[in-house]
Amino acid sequence: MNTIYNQHDIELFSNEIAGLDALQTLRWAAVRFAGAITFASSLGAEDQVITHLIAVNQLPISLFTLDTGRLFPETYELIDKTQARYNVKLKVCFPEAAEVEEMVSSEGINLFYYSIENRKRCCGVRKTHPLQKALAGNQIWITGLRRQQAVTRTGLQKIEFDSINGLLKLNPLIDLSEADLWQFIREHKIPYNVLHDKGFPSIGCQPCTRAIEPGDDIRAGRWWWENPEQKECGLHKR
Ligand code: ADX
Ligand code: SF4
Repeated sequence: MNTIYNQHDIELFSNEIAGLDALQTLRWAAVRFAGAITFASSLGAEDQVITHLIAVNQLPISLFTLDTGRLFPETYELIDKTQARYNVKLKVCFPEAAEVEEMVSSEGINLFYYSIENRKRCCGVRKTHPLQKALAGNQIWITGLRRQQAVTRTGLQKIEFDSINGLLKLNPLIDLSEADLWQFIREHKIPYNVLHDKGFPSIGCQPCTRAIEPGDDIRAGRWWWENPEQKECGLHKR
């Protein structure tokens, strides 16, 4: 059973972690929510930093990734590379086969290009429903979200209540800049998705992600046919 936190608890937690860096924040959370804390990794650059911090410091935090079935081959390669480098257990979560079959048979394999409703349905089946299952039994989940990533993310807090999924959400890299992120990755030789060097700063499913041009918004290549205000798949609805 998840504990429901009120605004007062969130303020208390926020104060406790206010001056902490990312590693200190993760350590704090691993103790505070021992046994009920999990990290959602998309294998993106931010997530690789968090995986590195968890693995190198042997923090008792479980890790999972949502395999939508539509990821890039480069992302699958990175799952292997990451497990080889860090020897961490990364749970790979799949969508419900029956839900995918029903959706694809009725709306087509690439339904997401035809309407926003279709796109949201696909993200629901392939991402948010499996996410709810993966989060069950936890009191807090960790993400690699940063404020600088998108217009939809400027109001993020380091710790907040995720009312959709009914548990806390911790964003330890919230204030990290793109430049500092990459400096840390290079300094620690953290394995990263090779697509990042080919114009893909933000990587999701293959049919819904394309390369961007220099100067473009970093999420311009995600669901590029939609308006920036709509570009959240439901994992991070607020
Ligand atoms: S998305 O909502 O647009 O897909 P984005 O790719 O920016 O999200 O990733 C933000 C954070 O959401 C990641 O740092 C990670 O914590 C979580 N996340 C996104 N996609 C996945 C995934 N496939 N599996 C697990 N976590 C994910
Ligand atoms: Fe489906 Fe695209 Fe969402 Fe992936 S990003 S779940 S392919 S709509």
